[in-house]
Amino acid sequence: MKDLSLHILDIVRNSVEAHASEIAVYMSIDTENVLTIEFRDNGRGMSAEMVRNVTDPFVTTRTTRKVGMGLPLLKMNAELTGGSLHVQSELAKGTAVRARFNLLHIDCMPFGDLGGVFAQLLGGNPDRRFIFSFEANSGEFAVDSAEVWAMMEETGISQLKIVRFLKEMINENLAEIGFSANYISKVR
Ligand SMILES: Nc1ncnc2c1ncn2[C@@H]1O[C@H](COP(=O)(O)OP(=O)(O)OP(=O)(O)O)[C@@H](O)[C@H]1O
Ligand SMILES: [Mg+2]
Repeated sequence: MKDLSLHILDIVRNSVEAHASEIAVYMSIDTENVLTIEFRDNGRGMSAEMVRNVTDPFVTTRTTRKVGMGLPLLKMNAELTGGSLHVQSELAKGTAVRARFNLLHIDCMPFGDLGGVFAQLLGGNPDRRFIFSFEANSGEFAVDSAEVWAMMEETGISQLKIVRFLKEMINENLAEIGFSANYISKVR
């Protein structure tokens, strides 16, 4: 995984595969330059044993489940910055994954094309409800897929154009509140 946006794509795919109908991603940067990415879904959830195993692929025997790398890699990359990964889940209820990254750490990955990833997730899964929310010291904004589809109906704009517009809109808003590629050089 070369940037945070690809991690986000990967973790949201887990929620889609778990048949979640509602998926939320909350991203925030606090005054200590710690980025928190929180994923919440109402998918099939995991047992307590599964939760223990998902973040550590090497304690799991291959017979009990297939070995995935999405969560272990996210954990590794978060911990490399002095951050953390926390997974909370309940069968038939849903899952919450919280990753923390120290943005000033030399090993912190770049953001990547966050707008592109969020637009792709929303546009590619029209049957799910997505909430994406972003918060930093200088502002906040959110995207709700229900509002995006309502706007599409009202205006008659094609889905392709909506997705392109979303990508630009999200990236511009993110840059404005400080989630930009040159975050580190700006705060130093
Ligand atoms: N949001 C979720 N809801 C329910 N189960 C989940 C969720 N996220 C992960 N899991 C379970 O944990 C397993 C491991 O997830 P992980 O992302 O680490 O690997 P993977 O998805 O199996 O494979 P990879 O991501 O490497 O393609 C999944 O196969 C799934 O069974
Ligand atoms: Mg996965």
